[in-house]
Parts: sequence; structure tokens; C-alpha cells
Amino acid sequence: MPSVEPTRKPAPPPAAPPVPAVAVRQVAVTLDRVTFERGGKRLLDDLTLSLTRGGITALMGPNGAGKSLTLRLLAGLITPTQGRIVWDGDSPIPARDVALVFQKPVLFRRTVRANLDHALSIYGVPRRLRSARVDELLEIGQLRGLADRPARVLSGGEQQRVAMVRALAARPRILLLDEPSASLDPPATAAIEGLVRGAAADGVKVVLVTHESGQARRLADDVVFLHRGRVVECGPSPAFFDRPQSAEARAYLAGLLLV
Ligand SMILES: Nc1ncnc2c1ncn2[C@@H]1O[C@H](COP(=O)(O)OP(=O)(O)O)[C@@H](O)[C@H]1O
Ligand SMILES: [Mg+2]
Repeated sequence: MPSVEPTRKPAPPPAAPPVPAVAVRQVAVTLDRVTFERGGKRLLDDLTLSLTRGGITALMGPNGAGKSLTLRLLAGLITPTQGRIVWDGDSPIPARDVALVFQKPVLFRRTVRANLDHALSIYGVPRRLRSARVDELLEIGQLRGLADRPARVLSGGEQQRVAMVRALAARPRILLLDEPSASLDPPATAAIEGLVRGAAADGVKVVLVTHESGQARRLADDVVFLHRGRVVECGPSPAFFDRPQSAEARAYLAGLLLV
């Protein structure tokens, strides 16, 4: 308990606070009026979006909305036709700071350990430091017992765990996940969700494309809802699910908006 000293003159009221009363979370990356066209079609249309540093952002929307394209833009695999992507810090962001995991893991025809070691070598981690980091990654992915098995013979869930820790190998700043558990059973999904939470807890910004509202509710701090290449709605996760503002988001959450 703090002691009370009634005789002392009260401290003068503080001057205007140096920071806003509501903390403004820092921005990791901004898509500024981004348009992406292919074959004469405008697939992303004037997309403006700021992702805050840290935390998990779910990217939702019906098939063809532009979710995967948005991740590919963030990963630097494609470039905007118009507009720009502004990263906090270096812009463009160095390749090793961004990691992308697909729904179907793409692993080499080698052991799990060799897959992880290879990823580290690509990112320039010296050989003498790699084996300790590989052991760490095996531990994080609960893959120790599978380290010397060929990666391609593992179950879908195990392969996706390898893909996840491989993505984390170089300690990226941002982890982009494109429906990482879409074809997995509930226990395998839970394992992937554990890895996603762990990455976010370590300060990695996560952008998660998911069709599963339950997963987004469990994991996401905020939700960006896309439809036909546009951001229709974005906001904190509980509010998005409990009180969606747009007709499109309401229809999508009711299972009525398919494209
Ligand atoms: N390279 C491409 N060339 C032409 N059309 C594309 C290309 N990539 C994606 N598209 C189209 O862009 C739209 C958005 O695709 P995508 O981002 O994959 O959607 P989703 O939200 O389902 O992930 C879809 O209509 C898709 O057919
Ligand atoms: Mg997609």
C-alpha cells in the first residue's frame, strides 16, 4: 500500500500527456492505394490498409476476393500495378524478414533436418550455427522424433509443422500464412494454431488467411475483410464477428456470400 502524506503539497497536475490516451499501435506496413491488374482485369482495387506491428491479423473473404494476392504482394512475389507498399523501417523489407507458408507445404525430398538446415543456409546462417538452430526449430515444431525421416513421407499435419518452423528459421519480422490448416484434422490444426500463437508471442507479426471463423476468433486480434479485390471492412476481432458492419461481411459470416 502506498503511504499517504496529507501534509505534503499535492503535485501539480501533469501537463498535456505526451501520448494519446488511447495507445496507437505502431504500423508494420501500409498498402497505399494498391491496385493489381492481370490480363486486363483489376484483381485488387485501390487497396489501402495498415497492419499494426505485432499481433495476428486475419485476412478473410470469399474465394477470389484477393487474399492470396495480398499475401503475395506483401511477400514481394508480385508488385503492385499502381500504389505502393510502405514498410516500417527498410522499404522494401529484406526478403529474409518475410516468410510465407502455403496451404500445401512445399518441402524438399530430404530429411526434416536437411529441409531446415537448407532454409538456414539460404539465409546465410553459417554452418557452425545451423545445427543448434535446427534443434531449436525441431523442438518448437515438436518434430524431434521425425528429424531424420524424409519430409515428404510425413502426414499432412507433420509436413505443415515442418513448413511452419522452416518459415520461422530466419526469425522473420512478418509471417504470412495462406490457409495453413485448411486440409488438416482438428489435432493437426491445433498444433499449427499453437505455432502461430508462439510466433506472435515472440513478436512476429502474423497475417493469417483463413476461411474458418472459429480459427480467426481463436487467434486474431483484428480482421481485414476483402471482397472482390477491395477492403470492405476491418476492425478488432470480437467486434467484427459480433457486430459486422457491412452487408458483405454479414452475408459471409452467415455462409451466404460465396464469391
Ligand atoms: N496470375 C493471375 N492471373 C490472372 N488472374 C489471377 C492471377 N492470380 C489470381 N488471379 C485472380 O485474382 C482473383 C483473386 O485471387 P486470389 O487472391 O487467389 O483469391 P483468394 O481470395 O481466394 O485467395 C481471383 O479471381 C483469381 O482468379
Ligand atoms: Mg487464396
